[in-house]
Amino acid sequence: MIRLLSVVGARPNFMKIAPIVAELKRDLPAIEHCLVHSGQHYDELLSGNFFADLGLPQPDVNLQVGSGSHAVQTAEIMKRIEPVLVDYKPQMVLVVGDVNSTLAAALTAVKLGIGVAHIEAGLRSFDMTMPEEINRKLTDAVSSLLFVTEQSGVENLKREGVAPEKIFLVGNVMIDSLLQHREIASKSPLLDRLGMRLGTPQNGSSCRPYGVLTLHRPSNVDDPETLHGILRAVSALAAELPVFFPVHPRTRKNIESFGLSRYLAGSSETSPTGTNGAGIVPLDPLGYLDFLSLNDRARIVLTDSGGIQEETTVLGVPCLTLRENTERPATVEHGSNQIVGVDSDRILAAARSILSHPARPSRRPPLWDGQAAPRIVAILRERLQPDLL
Ligand code: UD1
Repeated sequence: MIRLLSVVGARPNFMKIAPIVAELKRDLPAIEHCLVHSGQHYDELLSGNFFADLGLPQPDVNLQVGSGSHAVQTAEIMKRIEPVLVDYKPQMVLVVGDVNSTLAAALTAVKLGIGVAHIEAGLRSFDMTMPEEINRKLTDAVSSLLFVTEQSGVENLKREGVAPEKIFLVGNVMIDSLLQHREIASKSPLLDRLGMRLGTPQNGSSCRPYGVLTLHRPSNVDDPETLHGILRAVSALAAELPVFFPVHPRTRKNIESFGLSRYLAGSSETSPTGTNGAGIVPLDPLGYLDFLSLNDRARIVLTDSGGIQEETTVLGVPCLTLRENTERPATVEHGSNQIVGVDSDRILAAARSILSHPARPSRRPPLWDGQAAPRIVAILRERLQPDLL
């Protein structure tokens, strides 16, 4: 029997682990699996709803670490996961993505002599001010199997001296989840609730044009001037079409404390810039299916998220990335993504250019075909129990 333990902690981890968990279940009882949630994200809106939407089983263990500084959060996860690993004795620990939980679990496992498989290895923004870049590089350095989503990741790892036999280009588990859930997401009532749907989902309805904004990166939302500049640009865009903004708790706190609430529709002094006075429409953080339905029909998405650059690529929705770099160049080379930075005028000009042209064709990067999880599990099986093949 093969014994595996997977670790998740924050919102973008859940859709990456879901197809792996489903694939491992097909191999019961030959594979025994324990799912650990670090508790890095704990709000129902950032965690519980995703488990329900993705059909993920409740975690076998929840470490309940909660929020904290990077050092406190990482250290606390390490302290709490160590006895779980000692007790469960997995042959290998699976970690996904680049959040603090990813690094903390990988580091604890390798120090106990347990092999680590990193899913979404090799991505590099080459920007060490990004906490995720630190997490990616350190996690890759201690992993013995590196599962990569795009060719740039393979090249980055080889350049860093990783042995080629540890590197596997397998495609993108996030896209496995997206393709599995796209149809059911299209039945979400969210677009009706927002007044965007013309007709019913059953009769192949069309939608009014609208945009979507997401912001949560510390470099964008912790700096008042940067956040102000982004909101000013998007608010001007919101004069031309509604822009829906599911607001991350960190961003909401900062918008309020920096005195920027006037850019959000419904505030007492809504949007000074929008000619229709609509402003940006704030929403609570959305579950997986609602957010997929919103993105799928958007005319434009503006984001600083990594995963959304990938999802819009596959959905063929034009995406403006509000950062100076991306660790996911395939979304620019093949997909609909443009890196525009955070300058207000540049964001607005790029958005207007998108609105005045038909969406340019977007191609899926190689292997983003919904089959990444079966490829990963086949490799794990081969590596961990070769005599059974
Ligand atoms: C984390 C990840 C980031 C990922 C993002 C997705 C790291 C370093 N960052 O950033 O890579 O893209 O998740 O959302 O791991 N909070 C709540 N409720 C929660 C969790 C957090 O209100 O359930 C608030 C707390 O005030 C907390 C703040 O959000 O201090 C930041 O949470 P944290 O998990 O530290 O980082 P994120 O910004 O969410």
